[in-house]
Formats: sequence, C-alpha cells, structure tokens
Amino acid sequence: MTPAWWLRAARHIVVRMLRAAVRPVWNPARGLVRRSFIHPLANVGPRVRIGRGCLIGRCRLDTMDGGGGRIDIGDKTIVYSGVEVMVHGGRVTIGRHCLITRRAAILTGGHGFARRDRLIQEQPFQCADVRVGDDCWIGFGAILLPGVTVGEGAVVAAGSVVTRDVPPYTIVAGAPARPIGERT
Ligand SMILES: CC(C)(COP(=O)(O)OP(=O)(O)OC[C@H]1O[C@@H](n2cnc3c(N)ncnc32)[C@H](O)[C@@H]1OP(=O)(O)O)[C@@H](O)C(=O)NCCC(=O)NCCS
Repeated sequence: MTPAWWLRAARHIVVRMLRAAVRPVWNPARGLVRRSFIHPLANVGPRVRIGRGCLIGRCRLDTMDGGGGRIDIGDKTIVYSGVEVMVHGGRVTIGRHCLITRRAAILTGGHGFARRDRLIQEQPFQCADVRVGDDCWIGFGAILLPGVTVGEGAVVAAGSVVTRDVPPYTIVAGAPARPIGERT
C-alpha cells in the first residue's frame, strides 16, 4: 500500500533537509567537505571554503557573484545564524576554533566617496581583506570593517565596530573598538 500523501510529503521534506545539511562544499585543499554541518537555509556563495567540523548556522556567506570575493573558514569554527559576511572583492579568512556570534558582520568593501562632483554610486568600490585568527570570539552584533586583522585569541565585545587591527589575545569593545583588557 502506498503511504498517505502527507507521509510522502513529510518524508520528502526530511530527505531534502538532510541532504542540504550535509551538502558538499568544494574545498580545493581537501576536495568535497562533508564533515561540517551547514544549515539547510544558509546562504553560502561560490568560492567559500569551509573546514572540517564547522557549524554553519543560517547565515549569509556572500561572495557576490562576479565580484571574485573569497571566504575561508578554518576547522571547527562556529558561525551562528544571522551572521553576515559580505565579500564584494578580496578575501575573508577566519581561523580555526572561532566563534562568530549572531548578527556579527564582516565586510571587505565600501564605496569610494572622495569626489563630490560624482555620485557615490559611480565611484569605484574599494576592497580590503579581513583576517580573523584562530580561537577568536566575535561578539553579538560586532562589525569588522574592511582591512582589519583580528589577532589570534582576541575577543571582540558585543556591538563593537572594529576599525583597526586587534592584537592577539586582546579584548576590544566599543565603536570604534578599543582595548579593554587581555586574555591571561
Ligand atoms: C567583552 C565581554 C566578554 C566582557 O569582557 P570583560 O573583560 O569581562 O569586560 P568587563 O565586563 O570587565 O568590562 C570592561 C570594560 O569594558 C566595557 N565593555 C564591556 N563590554 C562592552 C561592550 N560590549 N561594548 C562597550 N563596552 C563594553 C565595560 O563597560 C567596562 O568599561 P569600564 O571599565 O569603563 O566600566 C562582554 O562585554 C561581551 O561583549 N560579551 C559578548 C557577549 C555575546 O556576544 N554573547 C553572545 C552569545 S555567544
């Protein structure tokens, strides 16, 4: 006897979700990576490398088709739902064992605006790489602006706007983010 329509529909949905959750992500270094959990509704663009044992929530890893941006995420890093990584060009490198908390944003680009005789929309887009070292914690709603490097083991407090490099094992907070302490 064929199962009821709703049972078939439910089975179809569950199978689709499971397939999506372990969907392969192309990693030139290691081939297809299947050992990370990627939320079925995560928005993962092309040229995104995700290491092993990562947890990728319902976030946006946006490499902007045609822009040539790249995102590299190291092994065992957690990217929570609501995170936005916008890479119009250049590269975002996130190390291993990092925590990128909800609503954090990492940006590599911005509009040029130096000339007032031209619309900002018409001025060249400028990009700079962003690097996050191993074992970093990027707090809720923090923003990493283009060009910054967050050193290994650093903590970026909730709501901070990081405009300059953060030295390793330093805790920064505020907008603009300033050091408030060091990990011991
Ligand atoms: C950074 C953090 C861990 C606190 O670190 P801490 O070393 O214990 O810092 P303290 O609480 O002792 O605060 C030190 C100073 O920094 C300030 N500060 C702490 N967090 C701040 C923040 N998010 N923004 C601005 N200033 C902050 C404090 O007001 C304090 O200032 P003061 O010395 O003038 O009073 C914490 O504030 C934080 O932001 N946690 C992130 C929480 C989060 O994102 N959770 C999501 C779930 S994973």
